Amino acid sequence: MYTPTPEDRFTFGLWTVGWQARDPFGDATRAPLDPVESVHRLAELGAYGVTFHDDDLLAVEPDRTKAIESFKKALAETGLKVPMATTNLFTHPVFKDGGFTSNDREVRRYAIRKVIRNLDLAAELGAKTYVCWGGREGAESEAAKDIKAALSRYKEAMDILGQYVLDKGYDIRFAVEPKPNEPRGDILLPTVGHALAFINELEHPELVGLNPEVGHEQMAGMNFAHGIAQALWHGKLFHIDLNGQNGIKYDQDLIFGHGDVKNAFFLVDLLENGGYDGPRHFDYKPLRTEDADDVWVSAAANMRTYLILKDKVAKFNADPEVQEARAASLVPDLSLPTLGEGETLDQLLADERDPAELATRGFHFTRLNQLALEHILGVR
Ligand code: GCO
Ligand code: MN
Ligand code: MN
Repeated sequence: MYTPTPEDRFTFGLWTVGWQARDPFGDATRAPLDPVESVHRLAELGAYGVTFHDDDLLAVEPDRTKAIESFKKALAETGLKVPMATTNLFTHPVFKDGGFTSNDREVRRYAIRKVIRNLDLAAELGAKTYVCWGGREGAESEAAKDIKAALSRYKEAMDILGQYVLDKGYDIRFAVEPKPNEPRGDILLPTVGHALAFINELEHPELVGLNPEVGHEQMAGMNFAHGIAQALWHGKLFHIDLNGQNGIKYDQDLIFGHGDVKNAFFLVDLLENGGYDGPRHFDYKPLRTEDADDVWVSAAANMRTYLILKDKVAKFNADPEVQEARAASLVPDLSLPTLGEGETLDQLLADERDPAELATRGFHFTRLNQLALEHILGVR
């Protein structure tokens, strides 16, 4: 019942299972993983697809042409798809002050060339989404970066990439991934809201949406499910990075559901019933304590947790007591327009009510929240 199949459209970044667990304080605890093995193992576990940064393909084979050939062969053997690809603009020392927004113009130009090269490969592999995570686009000091100029350069890069995709006729849209900090002290486009506003300033806003990540919004103290609801409302949820996080601290990239499980429950409700039809993409890191076999246990755990929550969400929504409690809490009434059909503002102004009387109504949200919790805890 909780066994994933490709119809579930679960996808994983090669860099997730392939993470060698090097952190700022310690060396790698796992050997490099051949992308070919990752493709086969993920397919066996029931995943639908795999995603990659240009550099991920070179984990064990430094020759790019050979690496791409063996990757393609593994895809053909397993039937795994590549719905998304992205560029690494953060590991190489050249990106120490960012890619698109480095103060060094030559670095900015190099960054655009690096993205375009991998965009061609993404199109060839059939990817429909190209993620832009600007991990190094930021600063540690307000003195070091002209933020308004940096945003202009960010826009310039996104406009160039958008025009390139149009000129080439690629069926690709971009998805900006917000993150508040780490590795930079402060990163540009730190939250869903900042990114949405930025997209509106682009030459081709229709080509650009979001790839929000659970942990990134939670690092900023934001409610992820609310952020996703707003992204959906704007028609901008192009892709998603699912994982887990425990509050405001470093980016934990835990397994999906291994952080704020109640928010994950409502997130799955939104993804399943809120109009999102993209892949369910996991961007997590197997714990540094885990060995090579544990990596696959953790990959499976992401998908299993999602399916469990999906099942619980369906039961929650079908529970007559929940429906009754929602009605008592006036949840459905929020969908009614505030003005009646044909009603004028004058009529609204004339419709005087006593606020003291309106204020006597309780909303009974406690009961609703407890019902959700009981479904999550498995006692209903
Ligand atoms: C992170 C980010 C990255 C990006 C990835 C794809 O915090 O490390 O989430 O994992 O998602 O680089 O753009
Ligand atoms: Mn992350
Ligand atoms: Mn991510």
